[in-house]
Amino acid sequence: MPPSPLRIGILSTANIARAFVSGVRPSSTVTVTAVASRDRAKAAAFAREVGIPHSHGSYEALLADSEIDAVYIPLPNSMHAEWSIRAVEAGKHVLCEKPLSATAAEARAMFDAARKHGVYLVEGYPYRAQPQTLKMRELLDAGALGKVEMMQASFGFTLSQEVNIRLSPVLAGGALMDAGSYAVSLVRMVARERPSRVQAVAHWTDSGVDRILVATLEFPSGLLAQISCSFSTTAHRQALIAGSEGVLQTTFFNHPSPAAPPVLQLRRGKGWDTAAEVIEVPATNGFLAEAEVFERLVRQGPASWTGASAEESIDIMLTLEALLRSARSGKAVDIDTSTER
Ligand SMILES: NC(=O)c1ccc[n+]([C@@H]2O[C@H](COP(=O)([O-])OP(=O)(O)OC[C@H]3O[C@@H](n4cnc5c(N)ncnc54)[C@H](OP(=O)(O)O)[C@@H]3O)[C@@H](O)[C@H]2O)c1
Repeated sequence: MPPSPLRIGILSTANIARAFVSGVRPSSTVTVTAVASRDRAKAAAFAREVGIPHSHGSYEALLADSEIDAVYIPLPNSMHAEWSIRAVEAGKHVLCEKPLSATAAEARAMFDAARKHGVYLVEGYPYRAQPQTLKMRELLDAGALGKVEMMQASFGFTLSQEVNIRLSPVLAGGALMDAGSYAVSLVRMVARERPSRVQAVAHWTDSGVDRILVATLEFPSGLLAQISCSFSTTAHRQALIAGSEGVLQTTFFNHPSPAAPPVLQLRRGKGWDTAAEVIEVPATNGFLAEAEVFERLVRQGPASWTGASAEESIDIMLTLEALLRSARSGKAVDIDTSTER
């Protein structure tokens, strides 16, 4: 008999929760059984709309629900730490939206709490569960690029709303925390280490968050990376990873589609004389892939998880913090690569 599906509860009626529920729906290993809102009527309406059996009128009530094994947390960034910690204290496994927290200190406290309570807590980057990314990691592990020397990762889109959690400094918004966290996570995944020095330049919204940011990151290995992110360009998402023996380009999409295909293009060799190989990879809904790999983490252990490790998530937060400090001060910022994680 296969085990019964992992029962997930959602903290809040966030927009992205709708996409999560519809993505996960076909799964036989994961099921969304409840949603909570600060407003009981809103939770009930959301549950009816997306077909979730139970709703709760507070986040606390969902955490007290014994029919829930794990929670998905798509709250504003500034609330991730508090509610992840409350969830692990209630004995629930946690799949928390990116960025994991507002600071690296919060991220460390979250992982400490999860360890103490014997549950899993992870940061969700759907692209990390996509076949596109798994294939890219396989190529990198096999040395297809030789020594990786340089990379660029960019993600931006137009944020046209005037009221949005992404525009709030209090809720830890900003282009870097939002789209930029993807670029930083990709760079950290490829580098396999924490950057040692970063320098960023940004333009700011009237509300006081970065609306466009570009930056350089230096790694102890010598790898140099450039990242960029924005709320004021048309939608784009792409990365280029260049090594001594080859170059790879990817879209690292969360949810590839016919309009936004899972591009993975590899050119081997040093010159222009080799044709680029277009590597065909299947595409799936990123939330479905992510939730199913989360279920395997919970049921089968850490070797099954393809997403960011605790170490990576802490490094991502350290990097995001340093990049913001640099953008605000106009100076390069060193990151201590020797501190406890
Ligand atoms: N992985 C991805 O593809 C992806 C995509 C988009 C967003 N995200 C992440 O998901 C999270 C949510 O993003 P979203 O755009 O879906 O957010 P959103 O629509 O603004 O929803 C956030 C929810 O948080 C709750 N909330 C509690 N306190 C709040 C406050 N002070 N202000 C606003 N909302 C508050 C609200 O739910 P109730 O009123 O029901 O309590 C609200 O619906 C963010 O961390 C974001 O980075 C990830």
